Amino acid sequence: DILIQEVLRLKAERQAVILAHSYQLPEVQEVADFVGDSLGLAREAQRTKAKVIVFAGVHFMAETAAILNPEKTVLLPDLEAGCSLADSIRPEDILAWKQDHPEGIVVAYVNTKAEVKALADVCVTSANAVEVVARLPKDRPIFFVPDMFLGAHVARVTGRKLDLFPGECHVHAGIREEHLKVLLEKHPGAEFMIHPECGCGSSCLFLKPDAKMLSTEGMVRYAKKAEAKEFVVATEVGILHRLSKEAPEKTFIPVKPDAICEYMKRITLEKVYLSLKEMRHVIRVPEEVAKKAQRALEAMVAVG
Ligand code: MLT
Repeated sequence: DILIQEVLRLKAERQAVILAHSYQLPEVQEVADFVGDSLGLAREAQRTKAKVIVFAGVHFMAETAAILNPEKTVLLPDLEAGCSLADSIRPEDILAWKQDHPEGIVVAYVNTKAEVKALADVCVTSANAVEVVARLPKDRPIFFVPDMFLGAHVARVTGRKLDLFPGECHVHAGIREEHLKVLLEKHPGAEFMIHPECGCGSSCLFLKPDAKMLSTEGMVRYAKKAEAKEFVVATEVGILHRLSKEAPEKTFIPVKPDAICEYMKRITLEKVYLSLKEMRHVIRVPEEVAKKAQRALEAMVAVG
C-alpha cells in the first residue's frame, strides 16, 4: 500500500517515531513503532531517541509526551482528537477542593488537561492507580479526579476513603450492567475482563464475582497467560485488534461492539501521513504549566 510506504519513508526522513494508543484504528496501530496504554506510551515517549514523536492518540496524551520531552517535537495528527473525560474537569474544580482541604492530596488520572495536572500532586493511569493511592499517607484527605468509576474502584480495592469528582468517559460509562447480563447468558464459560472506567463499575462483581477489573495493558497480559480460550471484553473496541494479535489462539468478544471512541478514531492513516509530511500539529504546553505538571507525571511513570 502506497500510503503505508509513504508513512514509513517520511518517518525515517524526519527521524520520527509513531506512538499509538491501543484504542487506535487497526491500520494506525500497524504503522506504529509502539502500541500501548497511556502509561506505556508516556514511558516510551521518555525513552525514545527520535527527534519527532507522532502521537496517534488523543490530545492529553500528546500533551503528556510534550511535557515529559520539552526538547522533542510532538505532533498530533488531528487537533479535534479530544477526550470527554479530560474535558469534564476544570482547574477551578481542583482549586475549590484545595481551599476546603488545605492538607489534601490531589490524584489526577492522566486523562486530564495539563492545567489540571499542574494542580495535582500525582498523576495515575488505570494501570497504576491502585498502587499509587495505596502508598499515599493515611492521615490526609484525597481527591481523586476526574473519573468517578475508576475512583470508586480504587477506593474499594485499597480500602481508602476518596473524595470523587463526578467525571466519566462517555464510552466507558455507556457500558452497563444490562450489556454484561446479555453476554453472561450467551457465554457463561468465558472470562470477563472489565475496564474500571465502565459504568457497570463495581456492580459487575455482583453479577460475575470472578470478573477481572483490568486496564488495557492488564487485559493483554492476563489474556496471554490465562488458561481460558474465550474472553468477554468491556472497554473501547480498539483493544480487540491488539488482543487478537498478541493472543491469536484465543477468542475475544466485545461486551458492547459500539463502544467506539470517536475522538480516538479521528486519527486515520492519511492524517498520520499528513502529520509527518507537514509537521503538524505541534503540541506545545506553556513552560510554567509544563513544569508543574511534570512533577505529577514523573511520579506517575515511576510506579507500576
Ligand atoms: C489508558 O491508560 O491508556 C486508558 O485508561 C486505557 C487503559 O489502558 O486502561
